[in-house]
Amino acid sequence: MGHFQALNQYYVLLFLCLVLDSLVLFSRGGTTSSYVRRLEATLDMPLDSDVFRVPPGCNAPQQVHITQGDLEGKAVIVSWVTQKARGSNTVLYWKEHSCKMLKARGKSKTYKFYNYTSGHIHHCPISNLEYDTKYYYMVGVGQTKRKFWFFTPPKAGPDVPYTFGLIGDLGQSFDSNITLTHYENNPLKGQTILFVGDFSYADTYPNHDNNRWDTWGRFIERSTAYQPWIWTVGNHELDFAPQIGETKPFKPFKNRYRTPHRSSGSTEPFWYSIKRGPAYIIVLASYSAYGKYTPQYTWLAQEFPKVNRTETPWLMVLMHSPWYNSYDYHYMEGETMRVMYEPWFVKYKVDVVFAGHVHGYERSERISNIAYNVVNGICTPVKDQFAPIYITIGDGGNHEGLSTKMTEPQPEYSAFREASFGHAIFSIRNRTHAYYGWHRNQDGCAVNGDTMWFFNRFWHPIDDSPDDDD
Ligand SMILES: [Fe+2]
Repeated sequence: MGHFQALNQYYVLLFLCLVLDSLVLFSRGGTTSSYVRRLEATLDMPLDSDVFRVPPGCNAPQQVHITQGDLEGKAVIVSWVTQKARGSNTVLYWKEHSCKMLKARGKSKTYKFYNYTSGHIHHCPISNLEYDTKYYYMVGVGQTKRKFWFFTPPKAGPDVPYTFGLIGDLGQSFDSNITLTHYENNPLKGQTILFVGDFSYADTYPNHDNNRWDTWGRFIERSTAYQPWIWTVGNHELDFAPQIGETKPFKPFKNRYRTPHRSSGSTEPFWYSIKRGPAYIIVLASYSAYGKYTPQYTWLAQEFPKVNRTETPWLMVLMHSPWYNSYDYHYMEGETMRVMYEPWFVKYKVDVVFAGHVHGYERSERISNIAYNVVNGICTPVKDQFAPIYITIGDGGNHEGLSTKMTEPQPEYSAFREASFGHAIFSIRNRTHAYYGWHRNQDGCAVNGDTMWFFNRFWHPIDDSPDDDD
């Protein structure tokens, strides 16, 4: 009898524990990671850091970076800076195993920002490249030559695998360097970076010290010279400083970085589209006008119907300011753009939206909030299998530090969030499946802090929530 009583008490206790546990698990929207990151000052690397080193040699090209140069993926734009003299605008390039050297000629210019004058910034488009091919290229012809290489993407197609890396809000702190190193060592080997905005944080220095744009360019060259970074502009690219007479927004960005906006019919470099392998990538501008009748609105309205999911099954959107964000920082800053564009995102079955701005990590459920029409009182996001997953990946490591405060309780729409630095990988395997992982800087390179198998919204629109699978 005593034995049965003890057993009964055990089962009652077990039951209570399970109830309590489930209350803890399900009373909130999703998971707020229990991972506690050591919190210490995130400092910019000093000017004499080795990652900022000027390459040796007479007027050697520095800050070399490449990006996609057209809509289809058959062109790149090579950019670099020569500090002392203009030097050659030419890029020499050749296919691997080929003796035939080709030549492309670019243009260069300088710009001034308050009391700063830039070096000679060169941009050289190279077109008519072959798909899925390794090319070598050389800049600094006639003075100090520097050689790099890149791979062109495979031709767009429904079952072409391709792996993207994701970094946002990088800056140039010691943590930024860890993020980039971590990405480089990730065994999943990202082939192109989708960068979601906030580059150098030069604007946080007195008079927007543009020398910090140069140091940033030298810091990231070890990646940007070898694989394209797809640029999204953030608020730190605005560089709007009327107090020192700098009234043209985005001046350093526009001079230093190029996007292939014209090939997708865009009128500004801040919003544009590219196809890359199996992905159609739409880049939006959080800090350019997006209301009805604006150039960005008009362009986007025409852009979505163009996407052919048989050619490019994965539809991805990049922007800087997130629409769904449950941190206390930048809360609802993306709300007006969400109100304008979210119905299109659901209608056209966007798979995933990547944003930055908030210095932490967050992944949403598949949710939408498009029922709201001012008078119906419906204003809560609901689960929606045709809606994208929203991912905030503004955790690149810049010197402003982490956003640690979150709204409590965790909203229903938020599936996972953690205030740590890191990067992510979006690895498309075929038209139906993509493997996604977020990697925090403190872990080993192969460790996932958060992971999910994405099911394509056009080809395989069934529930892909990791929680439901569990
Ligand atoms: Fe930002």
